[in-house]
Amino acid sequence: MAQLWGGRFTKSTDQMVYDFNASINFDKKLFEQDVRGSRAHVRMLAAVGVITEAERDEILKGLDSIETDVNDGTLKITSEYEDVHSFVEANLIDRIGDAGKKLHTGRSRNDQVALDMKLYTRDQVVSTAKALEHLLTTIVGIMEENIDTIMPGFTHLQKAQPITVAHHMGAYFEMFKRDIVRLSNIKASMWSCPLGSGALAGTTYPLDRYMTADILEFEGPTLNSMDGVSDRDYLIEFLSALSIIQMHLSRFSEEVIIWNSNEYRYVEIDDAYSTGSSIMPQKKNPDIAELVRGKTGRVYGALMSLLTTMKGIPLAYNKDMQEDKELSFDAMKTVQDSIVLFDGMLSTIKFNKENMAKSARNGFTNATDAADYLVNHGVPFRDAHGIIGQVVLYCIDKGIAIDDMSLSELKAISPVFEEDIYDAISMETCVNTRLTVGAPGHNAMEEEISACKEFLSSVPGLFEN
Ligand code: ARG
Repeated sequence: MAQLWGGRFTKSTDQMVYDFNASINFDKKLFEQDVRGSRAHVRMLAAVGVITEAERDEILKGLDSIETDVNDGTLKITSEYEDVHSFVEANLIDRIGDAGKKLHTGRSRNDQVALDMKLYTRDQVVSTAKALEHLLTTIVGIMEENIDTIMPGFTHLQKAQPITVAHHMGAYFEMFKRDIVRLSNIKASMWSCPLGSGALAGTTYPLDRYMTADILEFEGPTLNSMDGVSDRDYLIEFLSALSIIQMHLSRFSEEVIIWNSNEYRYVEIDDAYSTGSSIMPQKKNPDIAELVRGKTGRVYGALMSLLTTMKGIPLAYNKDMQEDKELSFDAMKTVQDSIVLFDGMLSTIKFNKENMAKSARNGFTNATDAADYLVNHGVPFRDAHGIIGQVVLYCIDKGIAIDDMSLSELKAISPVFEEDIYDAISMETCVNTRLTVGAPGHNAMEEEISACKEFLSSVPGLFEN
């Protein structure tokens, strides 16, 4: 048991209490951020004259050597220490002696952990956005290749109107685009540095909080030290964004699962992203898509957990806040892994273009266009709707598509039909005459794709500050 605070105690901690209280097993993830924060803190302490430049250099050298040894595995972060902060400080004192004891001057673990968590979250916001950016590149590639690949569009999971694969993919592009913008806004809202808030009330040392903020790439210090140590809003915002990303991935997964089913056969998931059954030799299961869908609950769980943890916390720091870590770390990893795996699955998926087109043709997806044809020939829309209803009923009875009816069969229902009806209700016409902004028509989709590409090229700029 290596603790930083033995002085006022006459008994040692009960082992179970120690274990329940300790956070090293999960906050060791914050090692790099902890060292980064300590470097900034000692540089500032020397600049304002609280420690000497020689002490600063000794501490910086000590921190470097600890970091090197942890990175190459010679020094292990073990549960012998209470938390990552104790681990770094104890090892520093071991290595450099008295100068090491000055590292924590004017600092509390409360502002230290607030900083570590904020730095870690900021890095994760950026790496999540990078993974999404890659996924968007995959999606836009599929859009470009499938601008004329016809498939049925659905409402209520019933075939509705013909669309294209590019159009369908473009809907997901918009969702993940909003996710990236959300992440960029979250990063911008994390502009302030909590280091220097002390335990809760600042410190009596003349700390230069602007200097540490600047070294750590924040715009400035947090403006109230009580809020500085106890704010986790940014993490809740990030968990909300992660929940929305995972919800989008889950919807997409659900569609891939449906499309990959024997009944649909719109797509075939690559062998590398499928698994077999231990008993049924014919099976090729879409496990990755199912797992991505399945993991959504635990991501939402992390958000609910932190919201609940925070709701009863009086100012300022309380140990409850240590619970901000495990589930958040899990959610961050779960979402990033899900994005990368989903991306891999999507980029290797095969679209069965023929099946999709056939499915669009066989589902009366051109019924609206047939009604519009009558409207263009002077029939009021409500009457046209009724006539096409009769046409569909006739087709269902015969097991055929509208396109399969002869002109005399059509004329028997309405004399308005002429030879040009076939062209008017072909899948290609149905799609390519839909040219409103955001619609699936070829020309509208070309515009959409170039907007997608323009967004992609703007992404790095969204995370510059
Ligand atoms: N492990 C603690 C946490 O994660 C660090 C802060 C400890 N502060 C304290 N006053 N006990 O929140």
